[in-house]
Amino acid sequence: MGRIYNFSAGPSMLPEKVLRKAASEMLDYNGSGMSVMEMSHRSKVYESIVDNTENLLRKLMNIPENYTVLFLQGGASQQFAMIPINLMSKNKKADFINTGSWSKKAISEAKLVGDVNIIASSEDKNFSYIPQDYSISPDADYVHITSNNTIEGTRYVNFPNTGDIPLVADMSSNILSEEIDVSKFGLIYAGAQKNLGPAGVTIVIVRNDLIGNHRESAPIFFRYSIHAKDKSLYNTPASYSIYMVGLVLEWLDELGGVKAIENINNEKASLLYDFIDNSKMFTSPVDKKYRSLMNVPFVAPTDELNAKFIVEAQKEGLSTLKGHRSVGGMRASIYNAMPVDGVKKLVDFMNNFEKK
Ligand SMILES: Cc1ncc(COP(=O)(O)O)c(C=O)c1O
Repeated sequence: MGRIYNFSAGPSMLPEKVLRKAASEMLDYNGSGMSVMEMSHRSKVYESIVDNTENLLRKLMNIPENYTVLFLQGGASQQFAMIPINLMSKNKKADFINTGSWSKKAISEAKLVGDVNIIASSEDKNFSYIPQDYSISPDADYVHITSNNTIEGTRYVNFPNTGDIPLVADMSSNILSEEIDVSKFGLIYAGAQKNLGPAGVTIVIVRNDLIGNHRESAPIFFRYSIHAKDKSLYNTPASYSIYMVGLVLEWLDELGGVKAIENINNEKASLLYDFIDNSKMFTSPVDKKYRSLMNVPFVAPTDELNAKFIVEAQKEGLSTLKGHRSVGGMRASIYNAMPVDGVKKLVDFMNNFEKK
């Protein structure tokens, strides 16, 4: 079987060029005579892989000097816990905007550490929009948002202006999908398995003054300061995943960087949303203003048609289109590595399905 178009929400498609390069280096990385998987994380050759990956990320995201990049494990879920342990330091309070399932998980972890103030929520309308009306608590240690809601299909078009209070963003499902100004954030985190590479590594970009403020009782392993001091090599990192992230970043750099992929992402999203908006069968549950460029939920009029759509799409090589169990219907995740042709094929299939 050839390669199919995989619309999974994550782990998701990786660029074919990246997979081929990894395959070509599988047995002998750069004349080392071994696979990156077999290499000591303390070796010079591996150190250069981590350095190269960090430098590329800094270049592509234009990360200012006063920010540290960490390659951690435990997924974005571990960050739900680590962020409050490290950042709820002064007043032991944080503001959260609740925009869906992943925000809720972040909130649950933070509540175990300090006072959580939910300053806005879109739960009243099934998380189909991003709230705009809120006031930030003057004594909050930070404000937390989920920049792209993978399950509900919404995204922040403008980020909250939090003044001097650090803005913290879970960018797991839209990091590197469009240009952002890193200097507006105190901390950005993202699991790799959507736009960055395979599962296993989690990127944390944190402003230096926010490192080292953890609680006295914080487990050593959960302190950003320890991982920053040891340049993400405090313990054995997800070494192969970091190498793969490096290859994905090289691919993105060659493509023209974040602006170039942003244009492609806009083109892909427009193809799909324009079709849905003109369709007599499919509808989008999301407020147009806040539609995600990465995750596109849509529904047919009945559960029976939804089920039929998913089965028939799979037969055409359009895979993993089932919506999240909490939402139902369909969801097409069209991350950076999804080619424009994959979205065109999906739209053609939707068109034919509707006609039939
Ligand atoms: C926005 C968002 N946050 C957090 C997570 C959880 O990530 P992980 O499974 O890496 O812990 C996901 C996973 O899909 C996600 O989409």
